[in-house]
Amino acid sequence: MQVFEAVETLLAIRSYEEKSIPPETVTRILQAARLTASSKNRQDWDFVVVQRKESLQRLGELARTGSYIRDAALAIAVVVPNHPIGPVDGARAIQDMMLVAWEEGIGSNWVSNVNTAEVKAFLAIPEDRTLLAIIPFGYPTRDVGAGIKDRKPLSEIAHAEKYGQPYGD
Ligand SMILES: Cc1cc2nc3c(=O)[nH]c(=O)nc-3n(C[C@H](O)[C@H](O)[C@H](O)COP(=O)(O)O)c2cc1C
Repeated sequence: MQVFEAVETLLAIRSYEEKSIPPETVTRILQAARLTASSKNRQDWDFVVVQRKESLQRLGELARTGSYIRDAALAIAVVVPNHPIGPVDGARAIQDMMLVAWEEGIGSNWVSNVNTAEVKAFLAIPEDRTLLAIIPFGYPTRDVGAGIKDRKPLSEIAHAEKYGQPYGD
């Protein structure tokens, strides 16, 4: 899959087949995170890999905006420092993981609102670290090619040379 095609077709996937992800593919997804660039090459991030069915079930109960984690084959919790650049670095690693998974036919999504005492305690995340997101992964239950992106046109968001000057006219 070409990079643009992956970006163009990637969708938030919230329902998954009951099918496990091969260990080498899980490692490949993690390698994508590891290889991502970070500010000053700090690599100050941690990835908690959750695959036990009962743990996924519990995370689905605890995540207010991600109950579907319970149906995932894998969830990766992304932990960053309490520093403004932490979420920036973490977000890039997340996007790379999602794209590499997508290339393997695996859907995923970003679940936020998880930096709570309960979720952190469940995953044994140190109090002084931030749980940026939990990313559930799994083989999508529907034909992923059928997804349509709902995005603003370039004319609304791109500016030529200075803010407010239309791009492309
Ligand atoms: C920073 C961020 C936080 C998100 N948080 C959630 C979330 O908590 N729960 C959820 O179901 N989707 C979440 N999403 C998914 C977005 O709602 C989804 O990507 C967006 O609506 C566009 O849908 P599409 O990617 O399928 O086109 C999040 C996405 C991003 C980038």
